[in-house]
Amino acid sequence: MSRTPPLPDFCDSILLDETTIRSRVAELGAEITRDFAGKDVRLVTVLRGGLYFLSDLSRAITLDVSLDFLAVAPYVHGSGGTVRVTKDLDDSVRGAVIVVVEDVVDTGLTLNYVLSFLKAHEPEQVLVCALLDKPARRIAPVKITYRGFEMQDDFLVGYGLDVAGRYRNLPYLASVRPEALL
Ligand code: PRP
Repeated sequence: MSRTPPLPDFCDSILLDETTIRSRVAELGAEITRDFAGKDVRLVTVLRGGLYFLSDLSRAITLDVSLDFLAVAPYVHGSGGTVRVTKDLDDSVRGAVIVVVEDVVDTGLTLNYVLSFLKAHEPEQVLVCALLDKPARRIAPVKITYRGFEMQDDFLVGYGLDVAGRYRNLPYLASVRPEALL
């Protein structure tokens, strides 16, 4: 068993520990397995934050799924939520079931754009599985079919979420002290 890394000093507390995350991811994987037996399921993640969730979720699904990746240049505040795709899918998804695997849905602007972008690829269906939902900050309404945890409006780090590109590999999710963001 690996040792849990210490909490960085700019964090307040661990909000979701490894065991809690693992157990919820297992439940989400079981739900997706149950709902899509016999379907051509593609798990699509938006780089980079969703990588750890995708890795664990895909192994909690006992169907033969494939993985694909989108990259986007995030919206700029004041741009009206315009997101630009910088890496398209590698595989055709026509007629397939796409499950978009996101680490966090915050304003919903990224996901809203990604969903329209993916629908243009003519899949049979597009659904969302998000580990973290922060509804307090929502601007664009998006439907989340599989939701891990509803969170308050804290700045979070770990399990894929970064601070200035770092700390994504913390195995837990922690809240960052507000004063550390100033
Ligand atoms: C995060 C996350 C979502 C997006 C959600 O990505 O992975 O894609 O923000 O925010 P929204 O609901 O306000 O649009 P981020 O832009 O931090 O990039 P990263 O995944 O590379 O960390």
